[in-house]
Amino acid sequence: MEEKGAENGVASCYQGFDPAAYLQNYYTPPLADLERKDSIMPWKLACLHRAFTEGDVSGELLVDIGSGPTLYQVMSGCEVFNKVLLTDFLEVNRQELRRWLQDEGGCSLDWTPFLQHVCKLEGRRPSAWTEKAAKLRQVIMDIVPIDVHCPQPLALDALPSAGADCLVSCFCLESASPDLAAFTRALGNIGRLLRPGGHLLLIGSLGMSYFSVEPGLKIPQNPVNEAQVCASLKESGYTLIRLEVYTLPQDMRGLFDDTHGEFFVKAMKE
Ligand SMILES: C[S@@+](CC[C@H](N)C(=O)[O-])C[C@H]1O[C@@H](n2cnc3c(N)ncnc32)[C@H](O)[C@@H]1O
Repeated sequence: MEEKGAENGVASCYQGFDPAAYLQNYYTPPLADLERKDSIMPWKLACLHRAFTEGDVSGELLVDIGSGPTLYQVMSGCEVFNKVLLTDFLEVNRQELRRWLQDEGGCSLDWTPFLQHVCKLEGRRPSAWTEKAAKLRQVIMDIVPIDVHCPQPLALDALPSAGADCLVSCFCLESASPDLAAFTRALGNIGRLLRPGGHLLLIGSLGMSYFSVEPGLKIPQNPVNEAQVCASLKESGYTLIRLEVYTLPQDMRGLFDDTHGEFFVKAMKE
């Protein structure tokens, strides 16, 4: 499945994707400023913390769809699930995640401030971040290839036959899909990995037509709005529990893309 997506146009745009440049742009200030309450990162971490601690999301296995080179999206879920599976389309991203997992240095980003922030959300001392890092390393069972455009996005033996209890996916589906129909199909494809009654936690960009990782590499996106996300979820067999919207402050717009906000969805597979 490696890098031969059905949606070849978008797949080819990811050739040359540099995880270090992506992390630098999107996971360091000014865009990802954990000290600034109105910035995107505290909002995303708070949405995920709330979703994972409300009590309805539970089970054994959490699968992160299109992890990229990032780990923030499983920092709350690792306290709820005993097993976490990370997935991405690109080997360079899987390598970046493996470097963190093996804890032997060479990571492109220090995740400590993110771990500390999530500890604070959980009412723990920021210094508990070392315990959280150890917990995360303990529960990550593997880092595997995925293609959300395949009817069977993961290798057949990647999951137990019952499927995952929860999926989390951040900025993957809309950035991997050339149009709304492909976005909706991808939602249906990943839904096959989820057990009935399992939860989907989805974060994505609103109205984004491209993002850039480094000068010269513009990755086109399928711009979606809230109504389209809701309709696609319904069409793909999910019941919406909650949709939240974050509006990007004016001074944080246009740095690396043309988004005006983000959505967070909590949904359940019917
Ligand atoms: C914008 S990045 C998001 C990364 C990370 N989840 C985050 O929150 O920053 C989009 C990710 O989608 C992945 N991707 C692209 N095409 C894909 C496909 N067909 N199936 C699954 N993932 C894909 C890319 O490799 C990339 O890691």
